[in-house]
Amino acid sequence: AAHSGLPVQGGNVVAEFGVSELWDPAVRRDPHGFYDRVRDSGGPVLQIDPAGNPFWVIAGHADVLEGLRHPAIGHEVHRHSPGSWQPALHELSEVARIEARQLINLDPPDHTRLRGLVSGGFTARAVARLEPWIGDLADRLVARARQHGRIDGIADLADPVPVNVIAELVGIPESDRPRFRAWSAAIVSASIDGPAATMEFGAYLDELAARRRAVPADDLISQLVTLEEQGDRLDRDELVALVQLLLVAGQETTVDMIVNGIRLLLTHPEQWQALRDDPSLAAAVVEETLRFRGPVEIVPPRFTFEDVEIAGGRIPAYDRVGLSLWGANRDPAVFERPHVFDIHRTDVRKHIAFGHGIHFCLGAHLARLESRIMFERIAQQLPGLRLAADPTDLDGFRLHQDGLPLEV
Ligand code: HEM
Repeated sequence: AAHSGLPVQGGNVVAEFGVSELWDPAVRRDPHGFYDRVRDSGGPVLQIDPAGNPFWVIAGHADVLEGLRHPAIGHEVHRHSPGSWQPALHELSEVARIEARQLINLDPPDHTRLRGLVSGGFTARAVARLEPWIGDLADRLVARARQHGRIDGIADLADPVPVNVIAELVGIPESDRPRFRAWSAAIVSASIDGPAATMEFGAYLDELAARRRAVPADDLISQLVTLEEQGDRLDRDELVALVQLLLVAGQETTVDMIVNGIRLLLTHPEQWQALRDDPSLAAAVVEETLRFRGPVEIVPPRFTFEDVEIAGGRIPAYDRVGLSLWGANRDPAVFERPHVFDIHRTDVRKHIAFGHGIHFCLGAHLARLESRIMFERIAQQLPGLRLAADPTDLDGFRLHQDGLPLEV
């Protein structure tokens, strides 16, 4: 491999595509071509992120799986690196403190403890109870869409689903949902309003927790409050961080998934016809959409805790690692004709759009249920649906943001 003058460490770096290609606008337009090249390169590929730090990309299915379960690849690098200095928790702002305590940013043992406290609320059986409720919500959205000739697939179909479902599951009272929705939008968009929204949301949750302490209900907040009272299992910041993560992690991802499923169906007319003929194919549409264009391109970056041999190369200690789900899900070693969208494929369940290992998506059953119901209802009740404009730039780093104009 020809190197591009990057500092080569470990002797087996393959970085012939140049610095920061991952962030290059041309690669943003065709990220799958980039991941094909990374996969074929025979090693992790070193990129330099916009802040000038090394960022090692891995894109093969087996290699990404290995990275996701590697004991020396994780988040809390400050516990392994003698050189790194991290402020103590009490020195952080409330917002930074809450973020640092989020499940998704922790390694065992804290990760194990916190995940164990909430995982029971997200099993297949627990979320299946929500099916009638989600069905009603979907019916209302679809009925409203039928009354309009033109709709926006995001605002009118996808967007209202996950936020309302998670509010129902967590136990946010109906009357508070407009506020909850606004905070969720501000936190998700990472806008300047984000920190203020995090604070307000924290205060709101304190108040709601107090109400549930007085009069418990059959919801997640009541369960968490009980645990919080037992003291050693969950503290106030952790409770706020958990609920906030549930809100953020399941929001934009699920919207993206529903919108992309609609877009892919409408741009593959024979498959759209197959779903209308047999709405029970909706579950297959969910899986193939996740494989072909899942909402998460690269899982939140990890660090190496020591020098790590992986994917045919070596990554130095304390560097950042980007494990690409988009790369893994188009690996020709695992999927036949990986760049073809095909809801009839039989190898689809090997996709890892929800990750793998200890951080495997907590909301996977919920996201599958929500999107399956939406695809079913759309096929049954909006059979004339078609695109009203060319879908633009849908493979960018940012999740969906431009709207999806549709004719009903
Ligand atoms: C974690 C994808 C919907 C809650 C993850 C991870 C992925 C993912 C790839 C692993 C991240 C990592 O390894 O660092 C998705 C996709 C979704 C979706 C593609 C929709 C199609 C949801 C929903 C919820 C949710 C609806 C609501 C509860 C979480 C949580 C984690 C997580 C709490 C962190 C788990 C942990 O760190 O142990 N998700 N997600 N996700 N997801 Fe989802």
